[in-house]
Amino acid sequence: MGEMEDLCVTECTRCPALVDSRSRIVNGAGPDDADLLFVGEGPGANEDEQGEPFVGRSGTVLDDGLRDVGLERGDIRITNCVRCRPPENRDPNKEELANCRGYLEREIARLEPEVIVTLGKVPSEHLLERSVAVTKEAGSLEEVRIDGTPRRLLICVHPAATLYDRSQEETFENALQRAAELAGVADSEGGQSRLDGF
Ligand code: URA
Repeated sequence: MGEMEDLCVTECTRCPALVDSRSRIVNGAGPDDADLLFVGEGPGANEDEQGEPFVGRSGTVLDDGLRDVGLERGDIRITNCVRCRPPENRDPNKEELANCRGYLEREIARLEPEVIVTLGKVPSEHLLERSVAVTKEAGSLEEVRIDGTPRRLLICVHPAATLYDRSQEETFENALQRAAELAGVADSEGGQSRLDGF
């Protein structure tokens, strides 16, 4: 089996509702030796259509945020808690999260990322196994055991949150800056570049 292939789920029918609503399985994207692993909730309509995580509006927000801290999409790996689009974009339920967990754990084990960045409430609560007040806790670095191995996890708001609530833009940006610094991939000018224009 090739290096990337075993991170790719090509067939899965564990979640009947998601099998019905998906048009394809959306696997993680990006280098399998990336220092940063971003984890979202699950594919939306655009992702389901194109077969890649964060390619819709949220993806544009994420790309802009990454650029502001001196990173680009190709520098990071990005994946989701569940790989199939839930009907009407509802949150994945506990059972669906559990069904897909092994795929996520395998991806984390393979990558051994410096930092896992959870985008929003669902991935933060799923991996920390506790309730999380994401807006309040964004930027907080946690140590968590995943499949028995301690990992560093940084809580971040979901990129879409910045579209509904402008005040979250700074929260989002600060968390990305921290992620880049922690992974040692920050462009030292990165944090300042947004301010330069003002
Ligand atoms: N939102 C997510 O949580 N994941 C995606 O892949 C796209 C939008």
